[in-house]
Amino acid sequence: MCKKMMHYKRYQHWSKKEDVFVVCVDEELNSGYNCKRAKPKLFYLLFLSFISFSFIFLYSFSSEEAGLVPKTDINSCSSVSNGTICCERSSIRSDVCVMKGDVRTDSASSRITLYRNNGHSDYVLRDPDENDEVLQHEKIRPYTRKWEKNVMDTIDELDLVVKGKHYGVRHKCDVEHDVPAVFFSTGGYTGNLYHEFNDGLLPLYITSQQFNKKVVFVILEYHNWWIMKYANVLSHLTEYPIIDFSGDKRTHCFPEAIVGLRIHDELTVDPSLMGNNKTIRDFRDLLDRAYWPRIRGLIQDEECEARMNKEKLILSPSSESKMVTTEEKKHLKKPKVVIISRNDSRAIMNEDSLVKMIEDIGFRVEVLRPQRTTELARIYRVLNSSDVMIGVHGAAMTHFLFMRPGSVFIQIIPLGTDWAAGTYYGEPAVKLGLKYIGYKILPKESSLYDEYDKNDPVLMDPNSVNDRGWEFTKRIYLDRQNVRLNLGRFRKRLLRAYYHSVANENERLRRQSQ
Ligand SMILES: *[C@@H]1O[C@H](CO)[C@@H](O)[C@H](O)[C@H]1NC(C)=O
Ligand SMILES: *[C@@H]1O[C@H](CO)[C@@H](O)[C@H](O)[C@H]1NC(C)=O
Ligand SMILES: *[C@@H]1O[C@H](CO)[C@@H](O)[C@H](O)[C@H]1NC(C)=O
Ligand SMILES: *[C@@H]1O[C@H](CO)[C@@H](O)[C@H](O)[C@H]1NC(C)=O
Repeated sequence: MCKKMMHYKRYQHWSKKEDVFVVCVDEELNSGYNCKRAKPKLFYLLFLSFISFSFIFLYSFSSEEAGLVPKTDINSCSSVSNGTICCERSSIRSDVCVMKGDVRTDSASSRITLYRNNGHSDYVLRDPDENDEVLQHEKIRPYTRKWEKNVMDTIDELDLVVKGKHYGVRHKCDVEHDVPAVFFSTGGYTGNLYHEFNDGLLPLYITSQQFNKKVVFVILEYHNWWIMKYANVLSHLTEYPIIDFSGDKRTHCFPEAIVGLRIHDELTVDPSLMGNNKTIRDFRDLLDRAYWPRIRGLIQDEECEARMNKEKLILSPSSESKMVTTEEKKHLKKPKVVIISRNDSRAIMNEDSLVKMIEDIGFRVEVLRPQRTTELARIYRVLNSSDVMIGVHGAAMTHFLFMRPGSVFIQIIPLGTDWAAGTYYGEPAVKLGLKYIGYKILPKESSLYDEYDKNDPVLMDPNSVNDRGWEFTKRIYLDRQNVRLNLGRFRKRLLRAYYHSVANENERLRRQSQ
């Protein structure tokens, strides 16, 4: 009998009642092509509306040159002296504060206190109950979207204070830790895959990988489902239990605390800011190690089931069975395309014909419809074994992170979404080492072509529409636009992808035979 791998928790049972609050953005759009302004300004616009799955979507406008990428090494607090708080506030994306020494939490008052040995208050002989002298005070919301006030307002603010040693008497440690803590929030836009990686996991990796798992994560706006969903990944970043800051009223003591997460750029890791030259590929390697045990379990289950089916076949032998397996073997040698499919808006209307055409070229095809509850290890398994990923611009494009470097990512770009498609997915994919092909659709390939006059700016000049404001972008281009691919035109990209995949495979075989 097959032994099922049951020790991996599922996270399908997310509480529907839990206020998984903003699930934002499929993507973010700026107001058009005018992003190369000399003095770029930063805009944000919060927009809430319920779409399918009762997600709330939020889009923000930002400018390409808004300076979201730190230009200098911002880890200026790495040598903070004992007994002080050092805050890095120069990045437009996030603040980070470092506290070293005798650090103690007090979740009831949203406070983290650093008790200083040689504070001058030690000389003042006053009743500590009356005197609560604060030697240094900083405030911080540990979330990586500092420039978006509306979402930052939903993140708990922490008070970081330094006090003289003797005040610590009243706050005895309930739990003593001998490794540093990293404080961050899983609120904000958590619930949307792009944000979970861009604003959560990648910054967490950037901030904590240096500790080699000798670090404790303390989470604000803690969600159980998030812990479950990313358990495999988290266990490769920390070997300690994760603390729910507001749910755990005990006083936790640490020798050091990093409050807030460092972030580099969209969905990437900048090695020049890492100290140890880690790159986005190192992050992907970590994902590979994290998902491997679960995937191995799935493979073992399938092999076992296949063996049992074979035994059945032997009992009732059929002349066809052998032919099928050789056909199957031939099939498995073909390079594989995965279509990430959406069906609410930005769907591919002629998906069936597309699949047929891709098969005719010589690929295998798998259509993947990721749901919020789809286990990421399963999606990783499919993409890690594929040669080409195709999808229409949207948050699900974040899955390009699961593709092997050297493989192909074709992003279909609906009208009015060029900038976001390139900035949030195209450019980061290139940094991971993927071959990126952006397929910008023609007006005729848009469902909007049936609704508007051929000369309407909606079709002819999307920038002018985007310039009118974000509501227009959202209502016209994002929520109601589907794509009817011109297969003849799209085929050229597929052929490029095919030759690239075949060349990759030949190169792999050549190296293997050496
Ligand atoms: C830093 O301060 C803490 C508490 O005051 C003390 O226990 C620790 O030994 C100090 N560490 C160093 C390196 O001075
Ligand atoms: C990081 O890369 C740069 C440039 O390739 C190299 O000069 C430097 O020595 C590397 N640092 C480490 C720690 O590997
Ligand atoms: C991903 O694919 C590579 C190359 O085929 C393989 O070595 C690796 O084990 C795969 N990772 C997982 C988690 O299955
Ligand atoms: C989209 O797909 C999901 C899952 O396959 C299905 O439950 C849902 O009804 C579909 N929605 C539409 C509008 O087709």
